[in-house]
Amino acid sequence: MKPLSPICSVTTSTPVLSSRNLTLHFDQGRTKALNGVDIEIIEGEFVAVTGPSGCGKSSLLNLIGTLDQASSGELFFRQQPYSSMTDLSEFRREQVGFVFQSFHLIPTLTTLGNVLLPTVGRAGDHNATARATALLQQMGLESRLDHFPSQLSGGERQRVAIARALINDPTIILADEPTGSLDSENASHVLDVIANMRLRKSLTVVMVTHDPNVAARADREICMRDGKIVTDNGVNL
Ligand SMILES: Nc1ncnc2c1ncn2[C@@H]1O[C@H](COP(=O)(O)OP(=O)(O)OP(=O)(O)O)[C@@H](O)[C@H]1O
Ligand SMILES: [Mg+2]
Repeated sequence: MKPLSPICSVTTSTPVLSSRNLTLHFDQGRTKALNGVDIEIIEGEFVAVTGPSGCGKSSLLNLIGTLDQASSGELFFRQQPYSSMTDLSEFRREQVGFVFQSFHLIPTLTTLGNVLLPTVGRAGDHNATARATALLQQMGLESRLDHFPSQLSGGERQRVAIARALINDPTIILADEPTGSLDSENASHVLDVIANMRLRKSLTVVMVTHDPNVAARADREICMRDGKIVTDNGVNL
C-alpha cells in the first residue's frame, strides 16, 4: 500500500442505509431468513455483521445490495425507499460495491478486465481504464494487470475484487466474509486495504464475518440470531 493522504472518515451523521421491519422468507414462509430487521447505518461507518451460520447475515447483505427482494418491510438509501427506485440495477451499479468470500472473478478476463467489468454499459465513462489502473496500483497490483485469476494468489484475487467493487466510486461496500478464504497474513492485508480505502473514499462498509478479530477492525459490530439483530456493539436489543 502507498502512504495515505490526509483522511476524513465519517463525513455526516445522516443514515445512508436504514431498514424498517425487514423480512425475507423462503419455502412459503417456513424459513424466516430475516425476521424483522431494523437497522440504521451512518454514512462512513464500518459495520461488522456477525452471528451463527444461517442467522441471516448474507440475506441482509443481499437485500441491501438489491440482489434479492424483501418479503416485507422497507429499506432506505439516504431515506429514499428502495421500493420507489425506478432502476435498481443502476442503484446497484453506481452506489454499491460487492466483495465475496470466493472472489467471483471471471476466469477468462485479466485483472484489468475484471476491474473494468462494472463500467461496461456506463455511458460516457471515458477514464475507466485510468481509474482501474490507479486503483490496482494503490493495491500493489500494478505488475499483475495482464494476469488471469488463475495466475494470482488468493490475497491478490481478493484485492482485484476490491478494486472491481470500487471502480464506479460506490457509496457502500458490502463484503460477505471477505477474508474467509484467506490465510491470516493475506486476510490482514485485505482488511488493511478495505480499511484504507474506506477512509480514503469515505465509504460505508458493511462486512459479514465469523472471525472476532476481523469484526474488531470495524467501528461497530451487529450480531444477528434467527433473522434478527440481537446486539449492537454489545448492547442487547
Ligand atoms: N434461496 C434460499 N432458499 C431457501 N432458504 C434459504 C435461501 N437462502 C438462504 N436460505 C436460508 O435462510 C437462512 C439464512 O441464510 P443466510 O445465507 O442469510 O445465513 P448466513 O448467516 O449468511 O449463514 P452463513 O454464516 O452460513 O453464511 C438459512 O436458514 C438459509 O438456509
Ligand atoms: Mg452467509
